[in-house]
Amino acid sequence: MTTLLDIRGLTKTYGPITAVDDVSFSVDQGEVLGFIGPNGSGKSTTMKVVTGFLAPTSGSVEVAGRDVTRYPLEIKRRIGYLPEGAPLYGDMTPISLLKFVCKVRRLSNEQTKRGIDYAVEKLHISNVLYQPIETLSKGYKRRVGLAQAIVHEPDLLILDEPTDGLDPNQKHEVRELLKEMSGKKAVIISTHILEEVEAVCSRAIVIAKGKLVADDDPLSMQARSRLHNAVGIRIPSAQAQACIDVLNGVDGVEQVRRSVETAATVELLAIAGDGADILGAVRNAMDEKGVKVEEIFVERGRLEDVFRDLTYAVEGLQQDPDANMEASHA
Ligand SMILES: Nc1ncnc2c1ncn2[C@@H]1O[C@H](COP(=O)(O)OP(=O)(O)OP(=O)(O)O)[C@@H](O)[C@H]1O
Ligand SMILES: [Mg+2]
Repeated sequence: MTTLLDIRGLTKTYGPITAVDDVSFSVDQGEVLGFIGPNGSGKSTTMKVVTGFLAPTSGSVEVAGRDVTRYPLEIKRRIGYLPEGAPLYGDMTPISLLKFVCKVRRLSNEQTKRGIDYAVEKLHISNVLYQPIETLSKGYKRRVGLAQAIVHEPDLLILDEPTDGLDPNQKHEVRELLKEMSGKKAVIISTHILEEVEAVCSRAIVIAKGKLVADDDPLSMQARSRLHNAVGIRIPSAQAQACIDVLNGVDGVEQVRRSVETAATVELLAIAGDGADILGAVRNAMDEKGVKVEEIFVERGRLEDVFRDLTYAVEGLQQDPDANMEASHA
């Protein structure tokens, strides 16, 4: 697998502020990396260094084997970048913007035509090409921002919060577009939306206060959650207390929580100690007790929990041990 980005010991300071602190990771072709972290953790700064907009204070960044500070023009050719907030020239139309970007990038006529056809098709913007950008909806503006990032057919895409500020439908659309666009590229997406990481990323990196605190695939990261392999059951309310007592006695169950309640039913969540598999034991216990279980499900875990566990201590925040423990499932 070709390594498209290799970051070694990257540190970036702004005066007294250390925004990125000795970060190392690499990204291969075909990977879609979710870059997550609290506000001010250094995501945008890392991206600006990778794209050559800022120089590193120390450490190195190589794109396709070439150092970004030594080969800035060559690197810019290989990278597509959607900056944070995605500023665009509002009085231009998408087609004039794309042509302008191709000109700045010194693409040949043939490359320009091919690149624009490619970007317009990938982002589905043929219907708005001649409309001033400022009159487009936010979702379409974002698509135009993504189109300008891929018009030169780069191998490495750096997208800083590509779905920020979009409504749920537009977020969904942009995520689908990201999946379509990724293909053989390497893509880095910064986001605060953890479900986005589950939806589109093959790998996730968590950064807090400029330090890398986790690098894993989303499923393994979810499995670090306290709720991994917890078993939820929905039962008639009248049997709630008896079931809680039974579940507390089941092997491997560490804690039982009562959550979503309706007039007739209640949901209980049996949390497994060390993420052990307790589904069979919970089923058996309910059968023995003769409880009519209306629904049963196993939690994979919640990235939100893991994110909090990984970042709270680094940020110096106090954690509420019961936060986010309410059982809910889609
Ligand atoms: N131009 C700048 N001058 C001084 N400090 C800066 C500058 N840009 C960023 N910082 C600081 O560097 C740190 C990291 O900021 P950065 O924008 O990289 O974070 P981020 O992870 O992208 O945050 P967010 O999720 O809010 O976008 C913050 O403390 C920020 O205030
Ligand atoms: Mg940012």
